[in-house]
Amino acid sequence: MIKGSGANDMDDMMKNRAKDGIDRSGGIYTGADLSVDLCGIRLDNPVIPASGTFGYGYEFAELYDINCLGSFSFKGTTGEARFGNETPRIAECPSGMLNSVGLQNPGVDAVIAEELPKLAVVFNKPVMANVSGFSVEEYRTVTEKLSRSDAADMIGWFYGSRSCQSRSHSY
Ligand SMILES: Cc1cc2nc3c(=O)[nH]c(=O)nc-3n(C[C@H](O)[C@H](O)[C@H](O)COP(=O)(O)O)c2cc1C
Repeated sequence: MIKGSGANDMDDMMKNRAKDGIDRSGGIYTGADLSVDLCGIRLDNPVIPASGTFGYGYEFAELYDINCLGSFSFKGTTGEARFGNETPRIAECPSGMLNSVGLQNPGVDAVIAEELPKLAVVFNKPVMANVSGFSVEEYRTVTEKLSRSDAADMIGWFYGSRSCQSRSHSY
């Protein structure tokens, strides 16, 4: 299984990061119990970066130990690789920002072969698998591929995401 294949890397990383005396073993660093139950799975805390804002997670592990999160939802993943919408596709506005990324992602096969093995090295909690697509069949195929892959034991939840761009396609 992929989970565990990076165990030595993870141990080394934790040992190095433990030199500053902070316990980064996975809990949040307060004395309070912030744990929550999500569909029968216990999270250390309810902090969950939204899908698409956190890539496949490992990118952020260069900045901090992402095991301090409760979990996160990885990028919406489709059957085939997608570039997404033409750029520019993000714009600032007075109250925040507007985005229409268009489900950019490398496709489920690359997620299984490349993205999730990198995540397994730095994240030891269940992740939310965001399944996206343009037909019921595509959602089924992506979900089946993930759940039958070596990465299946990393996944705690499947999250079916239906984006506005899907509406131009038939269901
Ligand atoms: C840059 C960006 C990319 C996003 N990509 C995805 C995505 O791939 N799949 C998805 O389900 N939601 C995606 N979202 C939507 C977020 O997950 C979230 O639902 C949305 O930002 C609303 O949450 P908020 O009200 O806290 O901002 C994206 C949002 C942003 C800002």
